[in-house]
Amino acid sequence: CGIVGYIGKRDVAPLLLEGLQRLEYRGYDSAGIAIHAKPAKSGQATHPTGLKTAKAKGRVRDLEARLPKRFAGTVGIAHTRWATHGAPNDTNAHPHLDADGKVAIVHNGIIDNAAELRAKLAADGVELASETDSETLAHLIGRSQAATLEEKVRQALALVEGTYGIAVLHADFPDRIVVARNGSPVVLGIGEKEMFVASDVAALVSHTRQVVTLDDGEMATLKADDFRTYTTEGSRTSATPTTVEWEAESYDMGGHDTYMHKEIHEQVDAVDRVLRGRIDDRFATVRLGGLNLDAREARGVRRVKILGCGSAYHTGLIGAQLIEELARIPADAEPASEFRYRNPVVDPDTLYIAVSQSGETYDTLAAVQELKRKGARVLGVVNVVGSAIARETDGGVYVHAGPEVCVVSTKCFTNTAVAFALLALHLGRIRDLSVADGKRIIAGLRRLPEQIAEVLRGEEEIKRLAAEYANAKSMMFIGRVRGYPVAREASLKLKEVSYVHAEAYPASELKHGPLALIEPEVPTVAVLPDDDLLEKNRATLEEIKARSGRILAVAHQEQEKADHTIVVPRNEPELDPILMGVPLQLLAYHTALALGRDIDKPRNLAKSVTVE
Ligand code: G6P
Repeated sequence: CGIVGYIGKRDVAPLLLEGLQRLEYRGYDSAGIAIHAKPAKSGQATHPTGLKTAKAKGRVRDLEARLPKRFAGTVGIAHTRWATHGAPNDTNAHPHLDADGKVAIVHNGIIDNAAELRAKLAADGVELASETDSETLAHLIGRSQAATLEEKVRQALALVEGTYGIAVLHADFPDRIVVARNGSPVVLGIGEKEMFVASDVAALVSHTRQVVTLDDGEMATLKADDFRTYTTEGSRTSATPTTVEWEAESYDMGGHDTYMHKEIHEQVDAVDRVLRGRIDDRFATVRLGGLNLDAREARGVRRVKILGCGSAYHTGLIGAQLIEELARIPADAEPASEFRYRNPVVDPDTLYIAVSQSGETYDTLAAVQELKRKGARVLGVVNVVGSAIARETDGGVYVHAGPEVCVVSTKCFTNTAVAFALLALHLGRIRDLSVADGKRIIAGLRRLPEQIAEVLRGEEEIKRLAAEYANAKSMMFIGRVRGYPVAREASLKLKEVSYVHAEAYPASELKHGPLALIEPEVPTVAVLPDDDLLEKNRATLEEIKARSGRILAVAHQEQEKADHTIVVPRNEPELDPILMGVPLQLLAYHTALALGRDIDKPRNLAKSVTVE
């Protein structure tokens, strides 16, 4: 979900709507806004009289269409929702009000003891308007007898178990917005006689680059010309604003019809960026300034365990292979969401790596926190600078993909894989990777941007293929070893954005079950790097052909057994997976386009899932 708030001199509704639009990728099943309304007479414009709200199921543009004519004010909060408790409809949309309509809150996260709190409130005669967990907070704040808004919020939060990022308005305190964070991001934007708050810097950068990121257990009071931060217990905390490096323009569509298309095409520059300043030709290695792991410590690492969710987990699968191949350290990846629930053995000689585009995915963050509690060393491979996972980890590698707005990950996937190649090279060169191999990998990395450009030049052909395969009943994605994580990611990408059912299997496993599904309506996408497994892979293609399956191959040369081949340029074998993913992003994109899908905002999904 997304939160945005403003206090200052400007008309607040258009500002909040613009902020919501920038956050819409975080959830988009309903949206709402609450403001301190100005009284009717313009002569008294500085004295707000009360709260006004507007809500709508659907997108921000639906909310915009529904705003009342008179909706003027200079203080307000707004929300775009990804439903957890209660269906997406007008009533369940935020902001939520207390019984007297004096308190308005927007909330990200989940209140675990909501059922209990709702029952208590109901027993006290409070009528709850929605089915949400969040509404309880509005009532708890409204019912507090404390003298200040800060104290009311503090008392309410003391009764709540769970995660939250909240922003609160109160009719009796029109000069302030109070915000709090526990597990869901809250960022303050510091302006000139105006203050912003949002769950994501994306909503702030067109207004200010000066931001303060709250820590868990921190609260803040925003006034037009002042802000202060303090703990939920009330003691002041220091908050020095930092400058956001991303430009506001990088959030624009830049002439493309969708963010996904823009972000796929940005990969040439993005990969260049993740490499920039990091290659050390003299020692055939790389410099990773933020790693915080000296050579002696790195040599002591006996295993590597990579944790992430969704596409981030898939880059972890590529990363684990790269680390095993280049550094010869046993490595594997696991979904962070599974890891944290299975009481894993935390081993002091294992290096743990959390991977996340947003740096806010709750399951991944929770895994990091659990690991740290047990004394493990955890590094982050993260895109968003200063995000929760970046801050919780002991060090790491930023992937520098720039802001990624489309819900499905493309450029960030590729850049993260490159970041893993850098890390693997670094670990390899302080263990036993040779100078010659170091040079070979560096040369391969340097070739990547131009080779990605070459793949992208083949877009028209991929578009044609997508149209041909778009009406498949289901798609099978296969690959062996290096090709397998690519198949996994390509299958996820297709599902997410086109809603075509897809499965990914190691090519070797096909004959052990899924071969039963193969028929002309279930085509196979085969990822076939030109490595020593190519012959084995060809045998698998034979098996598919024998069952009249159609085959689309991604390979380094035309595949005789395939109905179509997308030929990608050859890099070094270890780096081939990075390049082979790119045409399959285009395949997913053009399949979704051919099927008329809402590409940047696939149904039921959100870009960062900051709840469990
Ligand atoms: C969500 C998104 C996925 C993404 C995953 C992990 O589920 O829909 O596309 O891969 O979160 O996100 P992260 O920000 O941690 O990389």
